[in-house]
Amino acid sequence: MTRPENDDGEPPGGENDDGEPLGGENDDGEPLGGENDDGEPPGGENDSGEPLGDGQAGRVVELVWPAGRAETLRVRGDESIVDAAETAGVAVPYGCLYGACGTCTAELLNGELRHTDPPRALKDRSLDVGYVLPCIGTPETDCRLRVGHEIQAEVVGTPWK
Ligand code: FES
Repeated sequence: MTRPENDDGEPPGGENDDGEPLGGENDDGEPLGGENDDGEPPGGENDSGEPLGDGQAGRVVELVWPAGRAETLRVRGDESIVDAAETAGVAVPYGCLYGACGTCTAELLNGELRHTDPPRALKDRSLDVGYVLPCIGTPETDCRLRVGHEIQAEVVGTPWK
């Protein structure tokens, strides 16, 4: 019994036409895979060099005091107005920082503001006429608020009011 051979008399398998083993490198002699055109790994930053996402510039909040002083803040994300004021070095009245004491009470003159926790220091009738708590208040639009110690006295419940 004889073993079968192909037409050229060699065993099946072996080399390609130029005598090199199959597989290997691409045309420029570099290994396959690697980097993109700018030599940096894929992904990264946007055109301005800032990380992608969270590009929110924030809301402009103007604080006005009864004496006529005014300060403008930029409040970003869910930051409270009291936190933004502290960061900017603007002193505003506050106490508990969680909506219970009413020390920070302000009057919203323009814009929209959202309380991130229940505004327990204010009665519904005070909320209805525009009083807010900046310690748990974050602006939904650009806002203008009247601030100062006097404002709490306007809304604090008294036995004869
Ligand atoms: S600081 Fe107490 S309610 Fe705002």
